[in-house]
Amino acid sequence: MCGIVGYVGHRQALDVVLGGLRRMEYRGYDSAGVAVLDGAGALTVERKAGRLANLEGALAETGLDRFAGTAGMGHTRWATHGAPIDRNSHPHRDASERVAVVHNGIIENFSALRAELEADGVEMTSDTDTETAAHLVARAYAGGPTAGDLPASVRVVCRRLEGAFTLVVTHADEPGLIVAARRSSPLVVGVGEGEHFVASDVSAFIEHTREAVELGQDQVVVISRDGYDISDFGGEPAQGKPFTVNWDLSAAEKGGHEYFMLKEIEEQPEALANTLRGHFAGGRVILDEQRLSDQDLREVDKVFVVACGSAYHSGLVAKYAIEHWCRLPVEVELASEFRYRDPVLDRDTLVVAVSQSGETADTLEAIRHARDQKARVLAVCNTNGAQIPRESDAVLYTHAGPEVGVAATKTFLSQIAANYLVGLALAQARGTKYPDEVAREFAELEGMSAAVHKVLSTVDQVRELSRGIADSKAVLFLGRHVGYPVALEGALKLKELAYMHAEAFAAGELKHGPIALIEEGLPVVVVMPSPKGRAVLHAKLVSNISEIQARGARTIVIAEEGDDTVRPFADELIEVPAVPTLLQPLVSTVPLQVLSAEIARSRGYDVDKPRNLAKSVTVE
Ligand code: F6R
Repeated sequence: MCGIVGYVGHRQALDVVLGGLRRMEYRGYDSAGVAVLDGAGALTVERKAGRLANLEGALAETGLDRFAGTAGMGHTRWATHGAPIDRNSHPHRDASERVAVVHNGIIENFSALRAELEADGVEMTSDTDTETAAHLVARAYAGGPTAGDLPASVRVVCRRLEGAFTLVVTHADEPGLIVAARRSSPLVVGVGEGEHFVASDVSAFIEHTREAVELGQDQVVVISRDGYDISDFGGEPAQGKPFTVNWDLSAAEKGGHEYFMLKEIEEQPEALANTLRGHFAGGRVILDEQRLSDQDLREVDKVFVVACGSAYHSGLVAKYAIEHWCRLPVEVELASEFRYRDPVLDRDTLVVAVSQSGETADTLEAIRHARDQKARVLAVCNTNGAQIPRESDAVLYTHAGPEVGVAATKTFLSQIAANYLVGLALAQARGTKYPDEVAREFAELEGMSAAVHKVLSTVDQVRELSRGIADSKAVLFLGRHVGYPVALEGALKLKELAYMHAEAFAAGELKHGPIALIEEGLPVVVVMPSPKGRAVLHAKLVSNISEIQARGARTIVIAEEGDDTVRPFADELIEVPAVPTLLQPLVSTVPLQVLSAEIARSRGYDVDKPRNLAKSVTVE
């Protein structure tokens, strides 16, 4: 939520900053802005509401020469405080316009800080929480114990701020420095030759360097041409965690696709393979940074999966597998609800926090609550070193690579695979599965990469089908067993991408109310279970489809190849390969992803950047 980039080096900062913002626009696209220091004491700022393209247009109009300079910063915004209009766009400046600040997160005590500043005669020019930070830094720099010392001024201000924030700060009097600070929001340093970067995400600087340093909680970093220096908010020297980014620029580019999402859908076989790679050795399933021993896993008497959105749906899928394999109760909980209802947790509870970004505020707060109650937390995350894995007892990384499209696709499939690894590790430690069974389940999971590859060949059929649905008022989704979370995921995708009313139901619930919605021509997508693997449920769903078809619904059925029983009831049939029941979501989700993307495309919407959304939701 909000993308931030800062640069000091030998290149024109504006080029670097705009390049970084282009790659981070998925983090928020309500407005964008840049600030450049020219080295002779001038600080030039431009900011515009709307997409980055608006800012680029404004820059071109006013003349890029004004922005010559080798230090600068940029911001792409997902609005929290203050409407997405020009004056609320970042960077924000103090009254003297010597200090510029960009910010990601929320300064929770901003009302008190604002009142204090206003009482002192400061005139606010925006409705944001961020502007208070600019004024406070300017004051700290202007006088008192931190006078003339920008890093110290930033530290003293950070100590006063409550909430979650990443700040990047410049002062016109310090043209060779960028100071950045973080608490709970992401910040990484990029280490180049004679140039350094700070950003919310490595994608901002991957074009220039793959060497990065992850900042810890409550730390400040000062970057200059020659190096970087990290300290804590108290000024004590601190260490970051260096790492090398193991994917290249092409992973963060569209590679000939019209949208990132379409590329990311196609990358799913590889994402699955990468997520599983190295997790089975010596006849055993191995979790990544296994700070939970087999003994810890044996002691677990209850599992909670906490997550939001698609990640939550991946947890719903996992429930079926973990309960079946491990004979352990599994509750799947929306992270935003979890800590507000006093869940029963203790040391023997394993909380699995699933989050692509590792930044989701609801999930972060849920794990903090869980750890306060002494539960053990295992993060399933796609982002190296993000806050959720940092605050967890153990982490299992999904190696899906960067996902730029706002809607989760390859990370969703990878989360399902990773959650299954957690289930297998539990079953192995607890002895509810023999080693050869664990090995067989893992091999089947590995085989899913090829199965998903095969499903991708149905894309053209789904594309064709989407054209006939694009004008519908609403679409319903039905499923049972693991097909139910798939239906939920299909409906979520359609809502967020195509802005259509879409609802998912467990098919058995249909007759308890939702069947009243069925009317002539209403598209209903049905995720069928396997006729062999789940014969009883299959028969019941066939009856459900015939009931809704008789009432005029247009049935779009996702079924296993060779499922002839369902054929007469399917107005449209999308076939997916036959796979073990618990693995079916990995194949049946794919056509639904394509369907939503294609409907959104035919309705003329931006598939990668749906309205009102952002990739990382760092506010509750
Ligand atoms: C939907 C989607 C969201 C995320 C949710 C959780 O396509 O992407 O529903 O799944 O916001 O995000 P993470 O996984 O980053 O915690």
